[in-house]
Amino acid sequence: MFSRIGIIGAGAMGRGIAQLFASAGQQVWLYDARPETIDQALQFNRELLERSVAKGRLGADELPAILERMQPAHQLAELSGCDLLIEAIVENLEAKQSLFVELEGLVAADAVLATNTSSLSVTRIASACARPERVAGYHFFNPVTLMKLVEVVRGERTAPSVIERLVQLAEHAGHFPAITPDTPGFLVNHAGRAYGTEAQRILSEGIATPEQIDRILRDGPGFRMGPFELFDLTGLDISHAVMESVHDQFYYDPRYTPSYLAAQRVAAGLLGRKTGQGFYRYEDGQQIRTP
Ligand code: NAI
Repeated sequence: MFSRIGIIGAGAMGRGIAQLFASAGQQVWLYDARPETIDQALQFNRELLERSVAKGRLGADELPAILERMQPAHQLAELSGCDLLIEAIVENLEAKQSLFVELEGLVAADAVLATNTSSLSVTRIASACARPERVAGYHFFNPVTLMKLVEVVRGERTAPSVIERLVQLAEHAGHFPAITPDTPGFLVNHAGRAYGTEAQRILSEGIATPEQIDRILRDGPGFRMGPFELFDLTGLDISHAVMESVHDQFYYDPRYTPSYLAAQRVAAGLLGRKTGQGFYRYEDGQQIRTP
């Protein structure tokens, strides 16, 4: 498996991935371009784990070792000894390519580079690398420790051994790995277009409000969350980027056309829970009313 895991991007996903693997016994290092985010992420994880102890889900004696296994990395170069690097930075092809090129200059030749991209082509990310066979998708879901699925995405040139090792690690951490081909949106975000894109269309056509759509999809088919609740949890910057990326990669197939509703909110900085407003408004993490 892997013994030293470097995680780049300490936002919603990176911090969750760090907690998952530290809890499973792996040594992880967390790096972010914004140093203050690393401290916030480690503090966030500490509080989550302390709450688990308080609720009896985690033994108090296990906590110090898990915390000890999550270390900050203040420079990217501190990840040079890692045998698995997982990036969870901004959903942008050029940013991910340039990060992987930089990492290739730092890490050992057999270190694996995994991307948590939601929808960008793993093959295109890997095309910037000298060793594309070591690059794979490792697509976790938010919140990482609770959502047990992870898509292990096989790029066109990904080595089978890399997929096997990522599958083993996910299973070791108690997750369910689904090996998927590198097609636009993989499986979840391809199938999810019907859920998210169509819900925005229903809203833009004035057929129903976000509350009504969310409620119907929760109470009817039994989804745990309605599409607008999910947009706000994921972050509209991320989900709109996913919609655009899937639409682009399917050569602008009108089935996947994103909605101006999300684009407008992104332009206004109304990204969902993380900014206090998206499709809904939030105060102290609680939804208060529809804008
Ligand atoms: P986020 O915005 O919460 O965190 C991203 C972090 O990356 C930020 O702290 C930022 O400072 C840092 N960053 C940006 N560029 C960087 C760089 N070049 N080097 C180092 N750090 C950098 O984003 P989130 O939600 O954690 O998403 C991260 C990735 O995970 C994206 O690719 C997204 O598509 C994917 N993803 C997101 C999900 C979600 O529900 N939010 C679900 C599954 C995947």
